[in-house]
Amino acid sequence: MNQTLEKLQQIGIIPVVVLEDAKDAAPLAQALCDGGLACAEVTFRTAAAEESIRIMSEQFPDMLIGAGTVLTTEQVDRAVAAGAKFIVSPGLNPKVVKYCTENGILITPGCSNPSDIELALDNGLDVVKFFPAEPSGGLNMIKALAAPYTSVKFIPTGGINATNVRDYLAYGRILACGGSWMVKNDLIKAGDYARITALAKEAAEIVKESRG
Ligand code: 3PG
Repeated sequence: MNQTLEKLQQIGIIPVVVLEDAKDAAPLAQALCDGGLACAEVTFRTAAAEESIRIMSEQFPDMLIGAGTVLTTEQVDRAVAAGAKFIVSPGLNPKVVKYCTENGILITPGCSNPSDIELALDNGLDVVKFFPAEPSGGLNMIKALAAPYTSVKFIPTGGINATNVRDYLAYGRILACGGSWMVKNDLIKAGDYARITALAKEAAEIVKESRG
C-alpha cells in the first residue's frame, strides 16, 4: 500500500478542518499534535485553505496534511504546491481523479454507491472516501459495498462522531474515518485549543482501543 495511506491507516481518524483564517492554522496544528492526532484534511471551502496547508506543512513536518473538498485540477495543483500529501473530494470527478493518478498524486474520491466504486477501481484506486457516511447508510451500507468489491477499503466521513466512530474502526475494511467533531469551527473561533487537544486525545485513544 502507498506509504501515505499506510500512515492514514495508522493514525485512524482524520480531522476535517474548515479554516476561515490562516492565522489559526499553526495553533490548530499544534493542538492536534498535542492530542496525538498528527493529521488534518484542510478543506478548500474557504479562501484560507491553501495558506493554511502551507503553514501546517512547513511548521509541522511530522504532520500528515491533506486537502479536502478538492473540486478542480487547479485546486489539486494549489494544494500540492502548498504541501498537501493527499487529496480528498466529496464525489468522484473523473477529470480530477485522472489528473491525480496520472501525476502520482494520492486521491481518495468520495463514493457512496457501486457505480462510484467501479469508476474508482477503473482508475486504479482501491481506497475511497465513503461520503456522506451516515446519511448514505453508514456501516451497514459499507458492509454491503465491501462484499462485492473485495479489494476496496473505505474512509467514511460525514456524520461520524466520538461515539459511532468505534463501530466503524472495528470493521476491517475501514482504512480510517474522517470527521470534524474535534475541530469544530466554534472551538477554533473561540481559540479553545485546549478543548481541541482533549478531543483529539480522546479520538487517538479510541483508535488505539478499537484496534487493540
Ligand atoms: C464535512 O462534510 O464537513 C466532512 O465530511 C465532515 O463531516 P462531519 O462534519 O459530519 O464530521
